[in-house]
This record gives sequence, C-alpha cells and structure tokens, in this order.
Amino acid sequence: MDTSFDPSLLGARISHDPSVEGKRNVKHSQDVDTRPNHRQEHSDLPQLSNGQTRSPTIFVVFGAQGDLTKRKLIPALYNLALSHHLPQEFAILGVDVVPVNTEEFREKISRDIQELSSHPIDTTIKKWLLDRLHYLQGDFRDPHTYERLQAMLTQLNETYGTRENYLYYLATAPTFFSEIVQKLGAQGLVEHRKDYYRRVVIEKPFGHDLPSARSMNHAMQEVLDESQIYRIDHYLGKETVQNILVFRFANCIFEPIWNHRFIDHVQITVAESLGVEHRGAYYESAGALRDMVPNHLLQILSFVAMEPPNTFDPEAVRDEKAKVLRAIQLMHPTDVLQSTVAGQYEAGSIDGHSVLPYRSEVNVDPLSLKETFAAMTLHIESWRWKGVPFYLRTGKRMQRRSTEVVIQFKSAPLMLFSKTSVGQLTPNVLVIRIQPDEGISISFGAKIPGPKVNVGTVDMDFQYAEYFGDAPSTGYETLLHDVMAGDATLFQRSDIVEAGWSVVDPIVKVWESLGSHAIFPYVAGTWGPLEAHTLLAKDGRTWHDHN
Ligand code: BG6
Repeated sequence: MDTSFDPSLLGARISHDPSVEGKRNVKHSQDVDTRPNHRQEHSDLPQLSNGQTRSPTIFVVFGAQGDLTKRKLIPALYNLALSHHLPQEFAILGVDVVPVNTEEFREKISRDIQELSSHPIDTTIKKWLLDRLHYLQGDFRDPHTYERLQAMLTQLNETYGTRENYLYYLATAPTFFSEIVQKLGAQGLVEHRKDYYRRVVIEKPFGHDLPSARSMNHAMQEVLDESQIYRIDHYLGKETVQNILVFRFANCIFEPIWNHRFIDHVQITVAESLGVEHRGAYYESAGALRDMVPNHLLQILSFVAMEPPNTFDPEAVRDEKAKVLRAIQLMHPTDVLQSTVAGQYEAGSIDGHSVLPYRSEVNVDPLSLKETFAAMTLHIESWRWKGVPFYLRTGKRMQRRSTEVVIQFKSAPLMLFSKTSVGQLTPNVLVIRIQPDEGISISFGAKIPGPKVNVGTVDMDFQYAEYFGDAPSTGYETLLHDVMAGDATLFQRSDIVEAGWSVVDPIVKVWESLGSHAIFPYVAGTWGPLEAHTLLAKDGRTWHDHN
C-alpha cells in the first residue's frame, strides 16, 4: 500500500485523501467539499491528485468475462479512476474465450458498472475508463492467443504511452494459472527490466495443500522472479485489516500490553450468513477449513500477532508475518481431536427465511462429509504469546455476518474490591470489527453512580463510517493500486502461503480419516455446533457476544 504503512505518512494520506476531508478527523476539515462525488467538473481525463508512484500500465485481465472481473476488478478500477489514483497512461485489455469484439465488451462493462454501483455514476470517469478498454478473444491454452496478445500490447503502448508496463491479472480458474504464466514466458511477455515492469496477480486458492502449493510456487518461479508474483488475499485489501498494523504500531498505548502478561486469549471469527451459493462444486473439494483458514484467518492472525517490523518495507513486513506463522505449533493427530471442531449446516432459518441444509445445495453430494464450519485453538510458540490461546472459527450459514478480532485481557486483581458488593471484575475486551459495522471498541469497568461501590462494564466505540464516511469501495482498490506501484506489502509471499498450509494440513488429514465422526451438525442460523462452544468452555472461556 505504497507509503501508507508509515504511520506518519498515513496521517498525511488521510489528510490528503479528498474522500475523508470534511469528516470527523476535524483537524483537516475544510469549507470546500472536495470529495470526488461532489466535484462539479472534470477535465476529459482525471488529474492525478499527487505524485504517487503508480506506473503507466496496461492492465491485462485473463478471464475478462468472469464474475471477478465484473464484480470486483472493473468497479475497483472505476473507483480508482474516480479518486484519481490511476495513472494517465493506462489501458485495460480483457482476454477471454467468449467471442465478442471490443465494442461489445465495452457495452457489457458499461452495463455492469451501471448495475453494480451503489453510488451515482460519474459519466466522465466512466467514459474515460471505457475508452481505454479493449478485448482480445482467445483460448488461454492456445499459443496463438499469446502471439496476438503481444501484437495488441505493442499497439496499445503506442496509443496510450504505457511504456511496456504490463500487469497480468489471472482472474481465471486456478487450473489455468501455471499454463498462462508458462505461455506468457514462452512469448517473452514477462521479462522484467529496469525500464519497465511485468507483474502477475493471482487469486487464491494457492494450492490445495502444502505439496500442491509448493509445486504451484515452483511452476511460477520457473518463469517469474518471486518479486513479480502478487498473490492476492482480498482480506488484506480491507481497510480494517490494514488498520490492525496501524492500530498496534502507530499508538504508544497498546503495544506495551500486547503480550501474554496482559492478554488472556484472542478470538478471530469470520462468520457468514450466506451458504455456498452457486459454488457447491468448488466447496465440495475445499470445505470451510481450506477455503478460509490458511489465507484469510491466518492473515488476520499474523497482523495481530507479528512482531513490529523494523521498517514498512514489504520484505520487512512479510518476514515478520512469515516468522509468526512458522511459530504456530503444528498439531499432532491427538491435538486435532482436542483442539479443532468441524461442522456442517442443516436446515434452519436466517433473518426469518428458511434455508436448505448444505447437503441439499446445488452440486453438493447428498451424503457430503464436507465441513461448512471450522473452529480451532492455535498456540504460538514465542516469548510474546507463550500460553495465550488463539481461538479461530469460520462458518457459512451462521446467525449473522460478522468478522471480528477479540482481544480479551486478563482480569484485574479483586483484592481492592473484596469488601464491596463487587463479586468479580469483568476483564477488558478490545474488539476490532473488520466487517460489517467496521470499528473498534474497548470495554472497561466504571463506577455505577451511587453511594455504594458497584462496577459496570461500559464501552468506548470508534466507527469508521462516522469518522471517515463510506466512500465506494470493493476492497480491491488498494491492492490494485499497490501492484501498479510495485508495493508487495499486502500480498502473500510463497513462504507465507506454505506456512499457512503447514498449519492446516495436519488438521485436514485427521478430519478426512475420521470421515463422518469428524463432522458435527449445526442448525443454519446459529453460531455453529455445540462442540465449538465446548472447545472454549473446557478452557473456562466463551465466544464473545455470540452465546
Ligand atoms: C472467499 C471465500 O475467499 O471469501 C468465500 O472463497 C467467502 O467462500 C469469501 O464467502 C468471504 O469474503 P468476504 O469479503 O465477503 O468476507
């Protein structure tokens, strides 16, 4: 995320970002509302707001007709253009097998932008983007596609002054990743030089287990240098996840108590109320554990638990993340039985609507043993975290959508209050709400007014929307911007991916060998199987707020 991880520069970024001016970070409030949506006029092309290092770029999307392009990439590029964060010298080239021409592709994308935007469309910006959109029809496996791609790139460089900088976004099924990269390599399209860049962005899943992740990394690294590979975990595009680092390292008051001496335990919950939707076939091979834990949950955990890096240089940050992930104790089969829970949803009701059991979803085996819920206790073997359990859980069809990190501190000694009616002191709890209702709250004890000493628990609460407004965002804006700027801080390095699979593989193995004995049913619309509650109860703890 370019310079924004430097706390002092982050301050500058906030103050210079027109989308937040006039909001509650009062010091920078101004009389003139400069938010992009409120601009009265634009020149033909968006003007860059400052001298950030986004390079001129041709953004090549493989899988241009797919859902990811429609729902995330194009809206994110539109939002970046709107906030003046795209370079002037910019073009998009969609590659897909669907036989349409550039004009038809532009019309489709125009309709998509219209359909998906929750905010009024800026027609000048939309036109600017559509004018730079091109299409190449071709099969990803056919070498001729890459010959034609090369010819088109040459032409686009001349038209848009993009100086041979190519960002290849593989918005395709993972089965194509290695092949596309190999063919780009064979065509000489990924050579990276001082005067131009060639970068490849890939989406999860990065393999299915440790051996497949290793072989995928190996196949990529045969053609590309690791520094050219940007593995996206869209959770790192969420402002609230990025803010964990700023919260920890830009404030003096939290880091000194961020360790086993003060923290009792940590909970990370990623709960969804949605089911598997139309992704039954994928989910049948992935399951909740592989789908969410080695990537999203462990990324959040690494931000919560890593040591402060010496600098915000991408490698310094990623070194610390890798270190903490490697410090997670790997489970023996007996630990898996004690410390993990797998669940599968049955029929139930969410927001008053009946929902089907997992086994009745489209493309799901009616006898499926795939988990739609996973919970576990992890331990990090380090000086900082010795003896502090990290409880993780994720599931589909849970009571409501909620992603949060809960830091529960230790209880204060009761001695002082022994002669009062205070029976016990409630520990302080810090809750980082990743989504929805993004914010941070901390609870503490306060004297309830009256002649007797009585302690009640009260909250201090910060809400993003209240301070910073709700600028349109897909969560991909920062990530795309960072690839163009060559900043890999928020992307996964091969060793981080492999460390994640090392944690998950032993759990999968035991669950698979146990078959139906490993899976506990839960009613859709609840917080998962009873056994997940027992997981904490046997340590004398409960899941935050979800009892
Ligand atoms: C994806 C998973 O990576 O993340 C999905 O494959 C899941 O199964 C999604 O629904 C959750 O993302 P978000 O941003 O909606 O929390």
